[in-house]
Amino acid sequence: MSVEQQTAATEVQATAAAEAQQENSNLLEVRDLKKYFLIRKEWKLVKEKVPVAPAEPAAEQAEGEGEEAAQPEAQPETAESAPEGEGEAPQEAFKTKHKLEYRKTYVKAVDGVSFNIAQGETLGVVGESGCGKSTMGRSILRLLDITAGSVVFDGKDITKMKAAELRKIRPQMQIVFQDPYSSLPPRLPVGEIIGEAVKVHGIVSKSDYRDYIISVMRKCGLQDFYFDRYPHEFSGGQRQRICIARALALKPKFVVCDEPVSALDVSIQAQIVNLLKELQDDMQLTYMFISHDLSVVKHISDRVGVMYLGNFVEMGSKNAIFNSPMHPYTLALLSAVPVPDPHYRVNRIILEGDIPSPANPPKGCKFHTRCSHCMDICKEVAPKFIDYGNGHLCACHLYPQE
Ligand SMILES: Nc1ncnc2c1ncn2[C@@H]1O[C@H](COP(=O)(O)OP(=O)(O)OP(=O)(O)O)[C@@H](O)[C@H]1O
Ligand code: SF4
Ligand SMILES: [Mg+2]
Repeated sequence: MSVEQQTAATEVQATAAAEAQQENSNLLEVRDLKKYFLIRKEWKLVKEKVPVAPAEPAAEQAEGEGEEAAQPEAQPETAESAPEGEGEAPQEAFKTKHKLEYRKTYVKAVDGVSFNIAQGETLGVVGESGCGKSTMGRSILRLLDITAGSVVFDGKDITKMKAAELRKIRPQMQIVFQDPYSSLPPRLPVGEIIGEAVKVHGIVSKSDYRDYIISVMRKCGLQDFYFDRYPHEFSGGQRQRICIARALALKPKFVVCDEPVSALDVSIQAQIVNLLKELQDDMQLTYMFISHDLSVVKHISDRVGVMYLGNFVEMGSKNAIFNSPMHPYTLALLSAVPVPDPHYRVNRIILEGDIPSPANPPKGCKFHTRCSHCMDICKEVAPKFIDYGNGHLCACHLYPQE
């Protein structure tokens, strides 16, 4: 083997090894995840066209025995206008029948999403209100029962786990909610709130319990004497720190941050986001960071996924999404971000109309009802979510579909 061939073979091996390592370093692998909510069950009267059997000679015999006997149940109608002339094939006739049907209506909150999150990475998730961000986050943690698909966490398929098995890995997967006011029990002191699950899961021994909780509180910027105080005595930012401390006290590997700063004012938002980043470096945490705020997502994320009506429409590195977005919906979202420069003119892309109902999503590309680039194919065929290089995925007919 020549030196060039050997070098080429070594490069191929190195690439394969890097890919294999990337594969192995995925903490979370989500495949075709669906979460549908059943919102209505009803009996509905529906019309149905049924073919009428050709008239038999017996019908002639019935002549004279009363007109009703010779009449069909409903007046038949032909599929096409009656043919003229002899020798042509008889046209099939239909009659309309009514029948009762039992119908179930589902909200397709998450409609088949697939992605990976690598160990230590932050995946930002953005999208309009109601597009399914929270439902996806909760389904991944199995706080909601999923409709279909699989979630592999740290090499284990948690979608098939029984309750007892799931309970064991619960501490490793935590969530921080949007509203720091309603997500804390008002009758428990802060130390109890943070430590409750620590006791249940036996994270530390009884003798080390208080010291451990205080050390977690300090990490999250809470003072020691807060241990015996109650949630109503704290501001929104402090409460969110308590929520973060409660999640981190369980030594998790993966945390879903579901709009953790949306309810806070801007200066406190920055503190909490910086705290989350510091804790990530300190504890090698992996985050899914859900937010409406693109500037916050840009600050904290390594990769970003853009969701629309239950699916990702674009996903890629932070730089790819913010510097070279592909999907018209991403372009519209980015054009709405305020720029702190009075001389900079932004061409805002205004999306017409509301997000369609996830109970009855549009056919083809779900964004076609609001897209200024919509083509005929968009109304019929759903675009594939394709990698256009370096993990930059997009689902849009403006780009090659092969
Ligand atoms: N328990 C439920 N029962 C029925 N429908 C639900 C339920 N929870 C959520 N949905 C519906 O699922 C869709 C997605 O909701 P979800 O809360 O995941 O959106 P979101 O993207 O997190 O919105 P927001 O940004 O406002 O938090 C919405 O249409 C919502 O009405
Ligand atoms: S597939 Fe068509 S409708 Fe959908 S975003 Fe692309 S251009 Fe617009
Ligand atoms: Mg939400």
